[in-house]
Order: sequence, then C-alpha cells, then structure tokens
Amino acid sequence: MVDSNQHHFSQPMEVFIHRIPKAELHIHIEGALEPELMFELAAKNGCDLPFDSVADIRQAYEFKDLQTFLDIYYQGAEVLLDEDDFYRLTWSYLQKAAEQNVRHTEIFFDPQTHTARGIRFETVVQGIQRALTDGARQLNLSSKLIMCFLRHLSASDAMKTLREALPFRHTIIGVGLDSSEVGFPPEKFRTVFDQARQEGFLTVAHAGEEGPAEYIWQALKVLKASRIDHGIRCVEDAGLVKYLVKKQVPLTVCPLSNVKLGVFDHLSRHNLHQLLELGLCVTVNSDDPAYFDGYIEDNFQALHEHLGIDFQDIYKLTRNAFQASFLVPAEKKKYLKELDGFVSGFGH
Ligand code: ADE
Ligand code: ZN
Repeated sequence: MVDSNQHHFSQPMEVFIHRIPKAELHIHIEGALEPELMFELAAKNGCDLPFDSVADIRQAYEFKDLQTFLDIYYQGAEVLLDEDDFYRLTWSYLQKAAEQNVRHTEIFFDPQTHTARGIRFETVVQGIQRALTDGARQLNLSSKLIMCFLRHLSASDAMKTLREALPFRHTIIGVGLDSSEVGFPPEKFRTVFDQARQEGFLTVAHAGEEGPAEYIWQALKVLKASRIDHGIRCVEDAGLVKYLVKKQVPLTVCPLSNVKLGVFDHLSRHNLHQLLELGLCVTVNSDDPAYFDGYIEDNFQALHEHLGIDFQDIYKLTRNAFQASFLVPAEKKKYLKELDGFVSGFGH
C-alpha cells in the first residue's frame, strides 16, 4: 500500500502520477475496509472474525473470481455496526485519497449489506455523510454518494431500499447496481431504476465486468445508465463500441481489480490501451482498494509499469474522470483548469 510520506521518487513519471489532480468514480466504501480497521472494529463490537491476525486476513485475499471475492467482502463488512464505524471507514478512505491527490470522489455504498443485518439505513448514510462533510472541509476533497442495489437480491428488496433512501435524497446523487453479475441481468431492475430516475436520482450500473456485452446494452437502454462501471467486455460487440464512442459514455475501469478477480491473467494483458485507442471515454479507479492491493495511484503506477501508459494517457484518463463526474459544469471547469495548470507547469 502506498504511503506518500515514505515514497522515494526517482522518476518523473512517479511524481507526475502522484501529483496529478485526480477524480475517482468507482470505489465501494465497504471495499476500503483495511484489515487493521476490520480487526479493531471486530474487537470493539465483539464480532468473531475467522482470522487470527491482520496478516492472516491479507493472506486470505486470493480470489478466483468475483464471487470468491464477494463472499469475503460481505463477511468483512459485518464488523461495521454503528454510525461511528461508518464514519471511520469513510474517513480512512478519504485520507488515503487526499494523500494521493484525489480532488473529487464518487463513492458507492451497499445499504442492503447492512440493513439485512439489522443496521438502520440512516446509521449507514449518516456515518458516511459526516465523513464526506469533514473531507470537504478538512481535506478540500469534494464528493458524491451513490447507493448501489445488490443484484443477487430481489427487485422488490431493491425497491424497499429505494424507499428508505428517499429521506436522504439530498445526500445521494444516484443509484447503481453491483454484486454477482452473471445470471443477474440489469433488466431485472427495470422498474426500480425507472422509479429512481423519477425521484431524481442519476443511474449507473456495473456491467461487462464478468458478464456479457448484452448486459452493457441493458444497462444503457433499460436502466438509462449515465456511466458503465467496468464495461471492459464491450470490445466483444463492435456495434456497442460504436455507440459508446459516439455518446462518449464513460467506463469506470478498475485495472488492479480486474487482475485480482481473474478477468485478465496479468495486468500486461489488460485491454485498457485497446479501449483508449477505440476512442472510448475510459477512467481509472480502485474499486475495492483494501482488497485489491491498491488505491487509485497504485492503479496508475501499475499501468505505467506493466502497460507502459505514458504522460499523455494519464492526462487523458484523469481529464475523462473529471468530465465524467456528476459535478455541475462550473465545478468541472474549476477542476479541469487545475488539472491543465498542473500538467502545463509540470517539469518547469
Ligand atoms: N462490489 C464490490 N466490488 C464489486 C465489483 N468489482 N463488482 C461487483 N460488485 C462489487
Ligand atoms: Zn465495483
């Protein structure tokens, strides 16, 4: 894990990656639960963890695919009980993000993971939101909150969750769809997404991570997703690529996640270059940083090392992320100006 205080920058590229102002659009807050905090909260809350030490937990993070990861990830989230636990989880992510010069972040949370255990919806949202407010004030880091429905649960459970979210309309900008993908097509959630849009939520969806290109079409056409989370399997459908390029639908790609979950055997085989060359609006994100060996900067560093992405690619990827964010135009403009100022001043 990167600690910027311990970094010995020997190459300008490392400095560039570290310092460039970034936006992150695909981060599950439950996926930012570091083993140290998991252990501490388990002790505080009297939860039994099937691990003896932090090192033990890290050793268990070898995943065959998305499902083997999700099984461990949902188990880890069980240590989160009260509002302060959600606050600390979110605050620890924001501190790491700020150290890596993330200027804006759009965070997913999975309320059903918690409400199914008897935790109140407001406990989750209020804990997260309080940390986001402190992040804006103390770290100068802006944020948006996106509520995801778990697609392995029923559409009616998702609808119930949407209703619980209505009193928090002002703090939640959009809804998304995550968890086990194959066998759980987006169209299953047509009605709940229709309702969410009527209530004024924006929509996004995980699609084409392990699932087929058809699920990306459904996310676009049925759920009217403004962004596709992952989306890397779009390359299997030329018509879909043409559509995504024409509409510049952003893809929130998570390279280290894709390797950890066996979507690509090795980072050197990732299709990020192909996606960029096709003219797609690609962004780089961490997904579940505590489980996948790294935060956003680590993703960029690994892409440079194993795929040879260069200054121009990194500039393009970070520019895409600010453009693809749910910020209002004036805020986007402010960040893009900051980004361009940094890039033109770098090395002078
Ligand atoms: N929940 C957390 N991370 C996820 C991922 N990569 N795909 C689907 N659901 C998730
Ligand atoms: Zn994800």
